[in-house]
Amino acid sequence: MHWFPLIVQAGLSRAALRFGCATVSSQRLDPLVEPGQIPSAHVHQIVGGNAFNATMTGDIGEQGTCTTCAYTEDFSNYWTAVLYFRHPTNGSYKRVPQYPNAQLGYEGRDAPDIKGGMTIYYTESDFETDGDQYISAFKPGFRMTVGSPTITNLSDAQRLPGLRYTCLETILTRSHETYELPSRPCPAGIMAIHHFPTCWDGVNLDSPDHQSHMRNIKPPGDGGFLNRARCPESHPVKMPQLAYETMWNTTAFADLWPRDANGTLLPQQPFVWSFMDGKGYGTHADYVFGWKGDSLQRALNSSCMFHGCGSPGMPGVLQTQPVADMNRCAVENTVTEDTEGWLTEIPGQQAMMRY
Ligand SMILES: *[C@@H]1O[C@H](CO)[C@@H](O)[C@H](O)[C@H]1NC(C)=O
Ligand SMILES: *[C@@H]1O[C@H](CO)[C@@H](O)[C@H](O)[C@H]1NC(C)=O
Ligand SMILES: *[C@@H]1O[C@H](CO)[C@@H](O)[C@H](O)[C@H]1NC(C)=O
Ligand SMILES: *[C@@H]1O[C@H](CO)[C@@H](O)[C@H](O)[C@H]1NC(C)=O
Ligand SMILES: *[C@@H]1O[C@H](CO)[C@@H](O)[C@H](O)[C@H]1NC(C)=O
Ligand SMILES: *[C@@H]1O[C@H](CO)[C@@H](O)[C@H](O)[C@H]1NC(C)=O
Repeated sequence: MHWFPLIVQAGLSRAALRFGCATVSSQRLDPLVEPGQIPSAHVHQIVGGNAFNATMTGDIGEQGTCTTCAYTEDFSNYWTAVLYFRHPTNGSYKRVPQYPNAQLGYEGRDAPDIKGGMTIYYTESDFETDGDQYISAFKPGFRMTVGSPTITNLSDAQRLPGLRYTCLETILTRSHETYELPSRPCPAGIMAIHHFPTCWDGVNLDSPDHQSHMRNIKPPGDGGFLNRARCPESHPVKMPQLAYETMWNTTAFADLWPRDANGTLLPQQPFVWSFMDGKGYGTHADYVFGWKGDSLQRALNSSCMFHGCGSPGMPGVLQTQPVADMNRCAVENTVTEDTEGWLTEIPGQQAMMRY
């Protein structure tokens, strides 16, 4: 099947969606990269619809019965690896807890917090100006990944400018991004940022490497959220820029950092991704589109921004649900193993730590 970009006049819209999704599952499954493999190679944290399983295919917007996302029509699944802490003296590992982004809900003081999860963005240009190209929603069955656990050095990581870390001074810090996991204790934790490419070949819902049907057109050095440049002829269809922010609450480990005999912090930071990456260059993320019907296109065609598109307790272009309902939606684990306690090995990882 082919989808062609529509020719539309300039400056039509500037919708930007930002919404919270609670954790729907955390286990060793990867229906995109390792379909049917139970367990998959490494632990993931997943948000979105409850149709998530090892072999999911087709239009998942029409499957499942609930979603952990604020928007009730979004049954997509979004996932990343999980961050662990490695104890500096005894070598045991402990999963780093996640916390939700600040100010995602409008339900008032007594509303519960979103349970872990991520903040999801679909942006068209940037936060200030109109895009001048029509933005197509993803199509049913669409899927993609960004980044790769096989990336092990800075020069390869720098070719993916949308994958970064922010050392959080407070839960609202949004400046200074690095390609490596922060080299000092971060008072409010670490934010992992994943921006996906924005230009589609217009034909393939997926590709063998899950990436070549999409093209990243951000010039290096440009801020991760800019999505202004025109798409190349090979990948002519302009899609929204999908981005994830995951807040890892590292504060419980602040006093356990590696130190020398005088108590001075050693340069080796103690966090490691669930695929044994202690530098952070192999950071990656996965997406399976699952918005119901034309709901995402409806939002992109509007000019709503963030809470204006709808938030828990605040209706908009999109239908929303209370945080309590987001938190209630869950997928039962297919892979039952301890991923949370103090572990002598990260699940599935007998490999050596990569520094
Ligand atoms: C997984 O999802 C697919 C559809 O995406 C469905 O056909 C299959 O039965 C599901 N498997 C399990 C074990 O639920
Ligand atoms: C390592 O230290 C942690 C924290 O004190 C402890 O809970 C864990 O059991 C220890 N692991 C081993 C193998 O002793
Ligand atoms: C980075 O890693 C790739 C793949 O292993 C390798 O080909 C390349 O030479 C490395 N670059 C540097 C600067 O080490
Ligand atoms: C982070 O974890 C600490 C305990 O380790 C907790 O006191 C704090 O409230 C958590 N922060 C957030 C924003 O959830
Ligand atoms: C600790 O401090 C003492 C006195 O300043 C110094 O001689 C020693 O080299 C330091 N040790 C380490 C491991 O840095
Ligand atoms: C979005 O806008 C395009 C171009 O104006 C139009 O063809 C399409 O029907 C709209 N879709 C929705 C769901 O509003």
